[in-house]
Amino acid sequence: MTGILDKKIALVTGGGSGIGRATCIALANEGASVAIADLNPETGNSTLNHLKNMGAKALYIESDMSSASSVKEMIDITTKKLGGLDCAVNNAGIQGELSSTSECSEENWNNIISVNLTGVWLCMKHEIIHMLKYKSGTIVNVSSSFGLVGSPNMPAYSASKHGVLGLTKTAALECAQAGIRINAICPGTVKTPLVDNLLKEQPDIMESIIQRLPMKRLGKPEEIGISIAWLCSDKSTFATGMVMTIDGGLTTQ
Ligand SMILES: NC(=O)c1ccc[n+]([C@@H]2O[C@H](COP(=O)([O-])OP(=O)(O)OC[C@H]3O[C@@H](n4cnc5c(N)ncnc54)[C@H](O)[C@@H]3O)[C@@H](O)[C@H]2O)c1
Repeated sequence: MTGILDKKIALVTGGGSGIGRATCIALANEGASVAIADLNPETGNSTLNHLKNMGAKALYIESDMSSASSVKEMIDITTKKLGGLDCAVNNAGIQGELSSTSECSEENWNNIISVNLTGVWLCMKHEIIHMLKYKSGTIVNVSSSFGLVGSPNMPAYSASKHGVLGLTKTAALECAQAGIRINAICPGTVKTPLVDNLLKEQPDIMESIIQRLPMKRLGKPEEIGISIAWLCSDKSTFATGMVMTIDGGLTTQ
């Protein structure tokens, strides 16, 4: 397999499902070896088998982004078993329970922040430590359109995704002269298990979601994966600290 990521070594967190899985496939399709990190061994191994069937070099690492020791171990395993780390995609995220700012429990708040914000920071910390040694690397953080605008009943989710953009911009400036590019992607509503779960909780809202979307359709995980592959590659060498919004025009309105 050859492509824009030929000979690159990539890591995708939350690679077992949805956008993470589509990203693993896009990166492998472009020639990368891929470490798939996920809390869920069943889905993580399913992505692993898919990549192996494509002929890609790949590895599954069971890991929890909310645990500092697990994140460090994930980076150590990737660099030892795949031989380095060129591209990191910090994608793992949870939606948590829907509740308003005044009703959100401390437990719900802490769960969401620990995976979506602290988890991304922990990943970046260890990825940057590794990449600084080689003065080379790319990092893509997965934020959300709700990192750009608010979303009723998702206070911690929206705050975590806004926070990911602040982290991305700060680290991009810190690393601008060190050969490391750091960007963020803000997907709109994409058809994945995360959105399917939301629809289970609120089955009536699908029609109103679609009506708010300028293209009148949800995004597909592959439409996000290929954009992430571009940000990871040497096709985007002047892009850093960038927020790439791929939301079918949702936040343009
Ligand atoms: N689907 C959307 O509409 C949408 C829109 C904007 C942003 N996003 C973001 O994209 C990312 C992926 O979302 P998705 O829709 O593909 O979700 P998903 O639920 O399909 O996949 C998320 C994956 O992350 C893994 N994961 C969850 N917690 C983890 C943890 N603590 N450690 C390791 N892995 C963990 C899950 O096991 C799962 O495989 C998330 O950060 C999400 O917030 C999604």
